[in-house]
This record gives sequence, C-alpha cells and structure tokens, in this order.
Amino acid sequence: MERIDKLIVQMTLAEKIGQLMMTAADHAVTGPVLTPFSEDAIRSGAIGNLLNLYGAESTQRIQKIAVEESRLHIPLLLGYDALHGQRTTFPIPLAETGVFDPAVWEATARVAAEECAGDGLNMTFAPMLDVSRDPRWGRIAESPGEDPFVGSVFARAKIRGFQNGSLADARAVSACAKHFAAYGAVNAGREYAPTDMSEGMLHEAYLPPFRAAVEAGVAAIMPAFTDLNGIPLTAHVPLLRDYLRGELGFDGVLVSDYHAIAELLNHGVAADLAEAAALALKAGVDIDMMSDAYRLGLPQALERNLVTMDEIDACVRRVLLLKERLGLFDDPYRRGREGSGVTAQSRALARASAARSLVLLKNDGNVLPLAARKLALIGPLADAAGEMRGPWAGAGQPEDCISVLQGLTEAGLDLRHAPGVAIDEDDVSGIPAALELCADADMVLLCLGEAALMSGEAASRAHLGLPGRQQDLADAVFEKAQGKPVIVVLFSGRPLAVPRLVSQADAVLAAWFPGCEAGHAIADVLTGKISPSGRTPVSWPRAVGQIPIFFGMRPGGRPFNPDDYFTSHYSDVENTPLFPFGHGLSYGDFALSNLRIEPGDPLTVKLDVENRGAFAGEETLFLFLNQKKPGVTRPLLELKGFGKIALAPSERGTIALSLPRIEGRATLFVGPNAATDSLLSLSI
Ligand code: BGC
Repeated sequence: MERIDKLIVQMTLAEKIGQLMMTAADHAVTGPVLTPFSEDAIRSGAIGNLLNLYGAESTQRIQKIAVEESRLHIPLLLGYDALHGQRTTFPIPLAETGVFDPAVWEATARVAAEECAGDGLNMTFAPMLDVSRDPRWGRIAESPGEDPFVGSVFARAKIRGFQNGSLADARAVSACAKHFAAYGAVNAGREYAPTDMSEGMLHEAYLPPFRAAVEAGVAAIMPAFTDLNGIPLTAHVPLLRDYLRGELGFDGVLVSDYHAIAELLNHGVAADLAEAAALALKAGVDIDMMSDAYRLGLPQALERNLVTMDEIDACVRRVLLLKERLGLFDDPYRRGREGSGVTAQSRALARASAARSLVLLKNDGNVLPLAARKLALIGPLADAAGEMRGPWAGAGQPEDCISVLQGLTEAGLDLRHAPGVAIDEDDVSGIPAALELCADADMVLLCLGEAALMSGEAASRAHLGLPGRQQDLADAVFEKAQGKPVIVVLFSGRPLAVPRLVSQADAVLAAWFPGCEAGHAIADVLTGKISPSGRTPVSWPRAVGQIPIFFGMRPGGRPFNPDDYFTSHYSDVENTPLFPFGHGLSYGDFALSNLRIEPGDPLTVKLDVENRGAFAGEETLFLFLNQKKPGVTRPLLELKGFGKIALAPSERGTIALSLPRIEGRATLFVGPNAATDSLLSLSI
C-alpha cells in the first residue's frame, strides 16, 4: 500500500488516467500487434493496460516498454478472453457446465490460466456468469446455463482454477467475472437490447453467481453493456456501488465492457464524454476498456466538478493494488517466461472433458454405442475441424483441432464421407452424392448444426432450427436410409428447437462445440469406449414461442390441467420443453430407490442407485426443493445440489447430497433431471 500511495502522489492527471485505460492491440494477419501509437502511449504513461495482445515475446516486449521506458515504471495489466481455454480449446462453457463436475470446471480453468500466463497475460475476461434462459441470445454459449445454483458452483470452481489461491503465483491470472448483471435476459433475446426485470427475479436468479464470485475472491468484475430497468450497468450506482462494493464488499477492479463508457451517450444518459466518464467513475468503474472516454472526458469532468480527484485516486489505487497483488511490481516478467502451447496433458484433459460434456438426447432401440462398422458420414460439420472450437476460442488454432471424420477414422471405423450441403447456404447440389453413400452403409451418421460463430457475441437468432438447407438434407437422408439407423450429432452454441429432426432420428447426441479434441471425444462416446454422461444445463424448447423456458417457473394460479381449458397452456404446443434441464442418457441404466434424509445441519439427503444396464456409466442426480412461503410465491423447483456416481454393470451405490436447513414447509425432490415425472419426493 505504501508503494501505491507514494506512486499516486507522484502521478500527473494524465498518468492517473493512463492507469484507468485499457486499449486493444491491433490484429495483423499473423496475430495481434501494437501500433507505434500505442507503444508511444505506453511510454508516456497514457495507456496503462492492454487487451488482445498475447504471446510471450510480444507481451514481454511491451511490458518492458512500460516498466523500463515510462516515467513511473508501472507494469501493464494484460487481459484476454480465455472463456474455454487459451491455446488448448476445451468445450464451450455451456457444454462444460453439462459435465456437472466442479473438479473439471476448475481443472480446465487451471490449464487456461497456465496457458494465459505462459502467453504473458495476467488477466482473463472470464468466467462469464450470466444466467441464460433464452437460447435466442447467442452468448448463452459462454454461460453456465439457466440455473443460479449451478452458476454459483461454476463461478467458485472457475475462480479457484484461474487464480490458484494466490494472484502472485506466476501461473495464475486474475479472473474477471462478467457481465454484471442480467445481460442474459435481454429483451426477446436480442443482443445488446435492454433488460427489464423485477428486483425479486434479479436477486433470485441473476445475482447469485456474482455473489459467489465475490465470495471466492474474484479480482475483477465487468459490468454488462446493457441497460437494466432503465439504468445502464456501466453507470449503475445501486448495483455497482451499493450492492457490489457496499453489500458484498467487493474491493477489486471494475473493468468496463468494450467501449461501454462512450456508449452511455447512445443510451441517452450522458450528453458528452465528460458526463459519460463521470457517470461511470462515480458508479465505481475503474478501467475504461476501449472507449477513450476517461482519457478525453475525465479532465473536463474534473474541471466541471462532475468528479473529484479523490474519486479518480480511488480507482487508480484499486488498479495499482491489483498490479501489486499480481506480483507485477516485484517481477513484471514473471509471466511469459515459459511460453505456451497445447501439450499431451492438456489434450488429455480436453478429450476427457469433451467426452463428458456430450449429451445423449435420444437413443431409441439402443442404436448406440455403434455396433456397425460401415458408416455413411454425412453433413457439413463432419469434416470441420476449426468449427469444433466454437465461439470465443481464445488463442486456439484450427490446425490443433480433431474433426469427427478424423476421430472416427482413427477409431477404426469404415467411413464414406460427403458434406451434402454447407452449414448455412442455399446450394443443395451436393445432396445426391451424400445419398449415394447410404446405399452400402450399415448406418448413417449425420453431423449437423450451427457454425461456431452463429453463437457468441452479436449472434442472436430468432429462428432456432437448423441453418441453411440442412433439414432438407436430413429429410432426404431419412427417406433414403429406409430402416437403417440414422444417428445425428448436433453441434450448436445453444439449445436448438428441432423437434422434427429429433423425432426422425434414432439417436441424437448434442455435441455443442466440444473443443480441440472433438473428434476423439465423439468417437469415444459413439463407440462405447466411454458412456455418455453430459446433462443439458438448459431446457431445450419445442418452439421459439415457449422462450424463455426454464424449470424454475412459478406455478401460477391456474397451473395446467388437461381437463380444464381455462388453465395455463398454449393451444399449439405443449408446455413442457423438448428436453428438460438435466436431461442426458447413458449406456448404463440406473434405478433409484430409498430416498431418505439424515438429520443434522446441513441435512444429508441419500438415495440408492443401481446400474441395471449392460454398460458402465455415470449417473447425475439433482436435488430440488419446493418451498411454500406465506404471501410470496416460490418457483416450482429450486436447485439446491447435484452429485454424480459412476457404477459398473450390476453395481449399487449411494449418493449423498447436503441440504442447508430450511425454515417452514417444503418438499424435496431428487432425480436425474427437472421433469416432474422423473423425480422422487419427500416432504420435510
Ligand atoms: C465482450 C466482453 C469481452 C470484451 C473484450 C466485449 O465485446 O462483451 O465479453 O470480454 O469484448 O474482448
């Protein structure tokens, strides 16, 4: 602290503002580079932090300019988005959430942090913790799905993984939880649109993962671009200052989202950059990412008494404190000495986590695992290695990725491949060639779905069917296959509304975007080397009109009753999702019995599980609660715990889940997913 106070006393206003600036490196064909302008700005102290520059050589060189050539020798924060890996690409966060194993969530973040640190970075803009109940919104791909309890466990695991217990560790980076808050509930799922929601819902569903992140010691938080109930989050005093800093005691760094401070003008809440800068600063936003509003606006804001020097100093102090906690003053070059790359070990984790993230949605007649060896491999995603990375792929390279074609070939299957159509084009001239392959195959494997960049930022969709002419291809294949099993491997960054495809197929495997080891992981599961165990962390709609659809709804005064017309329903689609939260089949076959509670605080809920199937497998069980409170409605189901158990054929075991003591009347439910008919219950 002493060092920081001494520095602040010496700093000019421009140098102080420099510490609050974060600027992006430019991109050249070969990767990110810095313009001579940025280098000079770092030398002069006008830019104190960078994003989007990675690689040991470039980061060390630029850190050297800051440390050795700037007047006060202050090192840079160097940040990058490593949402699901840096060099080694793991499954997209939505897919990885479906593993429902915090040890895996932590392990992949640990590897990502080590690779970031190897690349000379000291901050990552992850984890993304936006609860997402709207698959139209493309950023659902980056999220831990629809449930706040899951999001909270995910937050803690990721922060442990990234920060490794000590920010000063040369192999740790500071995490930045984002996007605070309720960005996942933008109107109609349209990217960057405003959010309007009740205080009750905000606290029930959208804030808990951020609270968990703060409790886990997250170093930084990024407010969302968006407007919540009429106040842009970038200037949201009640949430940033009163709730985050006040109630939760968050004393880390708030980093604006990209260009978000200048966008306060577009929101219509600031008349010029001085006002925009003052609004954000007063709400407690320390770092201006990419908008230049602090550089251009803060001097004027000071002159116009919109902010005080003390307020500016408070932000500078928090930024310098983070640099100190990261060990940067003691050794600015501690990260980036070792370099970074995909290793045999990181690949093994990528393969194992990808295999466990695959969700077997349907498996009629147990067509999987594959008995046949002669396959027609059809579809635009069968030989699409680069797409396997999904959106926000960090520094992951297409040449490091394994396609389905490669993975299945290496597994020894006899394959003929044709794409049939492209992912999102109108040309159907390739369909006949694809159909020809069906004739002498025993089975057809269709690899369909979205392109990687159809989800992620700025990738909202109003239609959630298969893009382009893929459904035409599927229709033609189902007609041609005539009794031969057709298995669909479906790639997407979100649940798709594809009831027709699901009813046509014998088996459907939701692969999401599995990352660099996609082909190997998919082959492991299709061939039965590994039994599928992924569970969907988000409900799959039957139709776009059901959205938002999630298990934590309230009953309403007229819950659906098929015998009473005037109860809550659609006239053209069922109320239930196509696949509920938690759905995912196994090659094992699990029977549940003997739900019981053991007293204590917390209570222990136990359930016996037996694998009656012919294959080993892993069962996941969810513990839900339904509470009744006088005067206030509660969700039908609230998730309070989950656990997994791996069982060999005929093996039995007991799963134990803990439940904090609760006041009042409640019913607890345990089962493999959120569909009410799959749950065992007990009143407590
Ligand atoms: C995204 C953030 C991201 C930032 C920096 C923005 O467009 O909304 O999630 O961290 O860019 O890449």
